[in-house]
Amino acid sequence: MTVENLIRREILGITPYVPGKPIEEVQRELGLTEVIKLASNENPIGPSPRAIQAATAALAETHLYPDGNCYLLKAALAAELGVKPEEIIVGNGCDEVIKLVAEAFFRPGDEVIVADPTFGEYAYATQLMGARLVKVKGEGLGHDLAKMAAAVTPRTKAIFLCNPNNPTGTMNTRAEMEAFIARIPPEVLIIIDQAYYEYVADPDYPNGIEFKGDGRVLTLRTFSKIYGLAGFRVGYGVGDAELIAFLNRVREPFNVNRIGQAAAVAALADREHVARSLEVNRRGMAQIVRGLTALGLAYTPSVTNFILFATPYPAVRVFAEMMKKGVIVRPANIFGLPQHIRVTIGTEEQNERFLDVLAAVLAGLKESS
Ligand SMILES: Cc1ncc(COP(=O)(O)O)c(C=O)c1O
Repeated sequence: MTVENLIRREILGITPYVPGKPIEEVQRELGLTEVIKLASNENPIGPSPRAIQAATAALAETHLYPDGNCYLLKAALAAELGVKPEEIIVGNGCDEVIKLVAEAFFRPGDEVIVADPTFGEYAYATQLMGARLVKVKGEGLGHDLAKMAAAVTPRTKAIFLCNPNNPTGTMNTRAEMEAFIARIPPEVLIIIDQAYYEYVADPDYPNGIEFKGDGRVLTLRTFSKIYGLAGFRVGYGVGDAELIAFLNRVREPFNVNRIGQAAAVAALADREHVARSLEVNRRGMAQIVRGLTALGLAYTPSVTNFILFATPYPAVRVFAEMMKKGVIVRPANIFGLPQHIRVTIGTEEQNERFLDVLAAVLAGLKESS
């Protein structure tokens, strides 16, 4: 008996997601004690102490199912964002919201437009439903919105705009987004992924939620990045109430766990933690840019908490050598960039260690080549 004949053909093109290596695994495999992970764009200063406190208190009620409607979290988000609770959907990370969009809207034969390179979950969700992914490569590494708009056909169901984009750290301005949305036929969904929204300081950077009035625009945000709650898996989408109601039809009843909901409410209120996270990132970004420049490595200026840079050697080799020295980064070959590395901005000490190890690894590879 083989299950091969039973499988949905649509999913054969999906390659399982390769996550950044967990610290524990690297420690075990390489016998290292001091390992730092700068591979998944997590917050290096950790979660807000208030979030930890709220999560701890919620632990005692773990025998109860969570609130399937995320009432308190939606109320807090609605107040913060100036929207109605029914315009919000909360997911098990915004990864889940991306999947809900696909499950509710994508069918075989539909086309879904994404940039190249960009975040991999859009491809996964598209393939999962048997829809066709249309990747649009621009001149540079960021989104080429004119080319993406030109890729629309009568079969286009949705467009994912990753703003700022992962893995490039680049952004599109408000004026660019306005012009883009105006060009896209009204029957095409537009998903604006703003997972790194809180990091962006540029005054021309748009708040995707401002486009909510255009009923087919959904903006995604997360508690995994600046709020430091990646381990709890809480993300959300904001859009027109009708669009959100359709997403709710395919959502599992208890998709967001009780502890994550409590932590997210507390994290949202802790402005001091957000301010500190921003400051650590701002200083860390400057430190890493200085270091990369000193090493003569070309980088893409980033508005986020990570940065993409080019190396003279295959990214997987640099990654493997750095890991042996206890520093985990993200080789960008998974994004189709075989000579690039994406590194998350860490604390001052982590950044220093990253730069030292990178310099040593590049020197070693130069010697052996
Ligand atoms: C652009 C982008 N969107 C979404 C996510 C996933 O966020 P979450 O942890 O909320 O699922 C990430 C995580 O790296 C991301 O980079």
